[in-house]
Amino acid sequence: MAQPVLKWAGGKRQLLAALSRRFPTVYGRYHEPFLGGGAVFFDLEPEDGTVNDANPRLVNFYEQVKSRPEALIDRLRTFKDPESDPDPELAFAETTSRGTEVTNYYYQQRARFNRRPYGHEFDPLEEAALLAYLNRTCYNGLYRENADGGFNVPIGRYADPDWVQADRIREASRVLAGTSIHNRDFEYVLDRASAGDLVYFDPPYEPMSPTADFNEYSAEGFDRDDQERLLDVTSKLDAAGVHVVLSNSGVMYDRYCEAGLVVETEGATRAINSDADNRDEVAEIIATTVPADEQRGSTQAGLTEFSG
Ligand SMILES: C[S@@+](CC[C@H](N)C(=O)[O-])C[C@H]1O[C@@H](n2cnc3c(N)ncnc32)[C@H](O)[C@@H]1O
Repeated sequence: MAQPVLKWAGGKRQLLAALSRRFPTVYGRYHEPFLGGGAVFFDLEPEDGTVNDANPRLVNFYEQVKSRPEALIDRLRTFKDPESDPDPELAFAETTSRGTEVTNYYYQQRARFNRRPYGHEFDPLEEAALLAYLNRTCYNGLYRENADGGFNVPIGRYADPDWVQADRIREASRVLAGTSIHNRDFEYVLDRASAGDLVYFDPPYEPMSPTADFNEYSAEGFDRDDQERLLDVTSKLDAAGVHVVLSNSGVMYDRYCEAGLVVETEGATRAINSDADNRDEVAEIIATTVPADEQRGSTQAGLTEFSG
């Protein structure tokens, strides 16, 4: 059972066992169209299938992990402690492109990551290494972009951050070997899943309140129309004999029932609001098209807890 390499908003470590119980005992290929940190995918270690995410930087990271894990590990080993002095040999040794003063190595790497290296200079290995480094050294280990698409999380305080994670990268590479990686909208799965396959949808959660910014994973949001589109895709997959399991926030409970899914509330709670006075404990739901007698059930060995 492999572990995720990145920490990602909406990580599913608390729901692993509950999700596993709802999966069918037997299925063909496995598809995960909203991969994020991939807690479920890596724990499951499917032999073949597809993964996908709309975030191009995340998808590039997994492509590098899959195709050249040792080069990525070697590159990560050259990074320095986030609190050390900026490297005078690198771009942004003193100020960022916006003129902000670079005070340490972390902010220098963040400025390099934010120079939008998608033009002629784009180096996919460097881009992947920067994403992993920032993810492991930033505050809270979360990926967040501002309206301009810049990664804007401040430095974290860790006694001994491990940004290389050589073993996890090697394991993740092994698990990704039989899986194709896509950078599209989730609807791609209609072309890729066939009867008997399993699709697990973990979309950005529908917010519990208008102030909850729970679905801001990247500059593109995921709105109510997207949630409806997801239900439409689910019903098409169901009609084609594909098993579907979905997770979402409790706010979707009635809508998912109305759509004919079997919906259960999970005890797992999460703080959806960073405002301490407004920290709601919110039930999550798991919905499925898998008939109860075809589910693995609780006797099946549960998926492991994510430990890091
Ligand atoms: C809830 S997160 C997935 C969390 C993941 N299960 C984990 O354990 O870390 C949702 C992901 O959906 C991606 N996303 C947003 N809109 C999308 C779309 N239209 N199609 C595919 N992926 C999308 C986001 O980039 C984000 O990584």
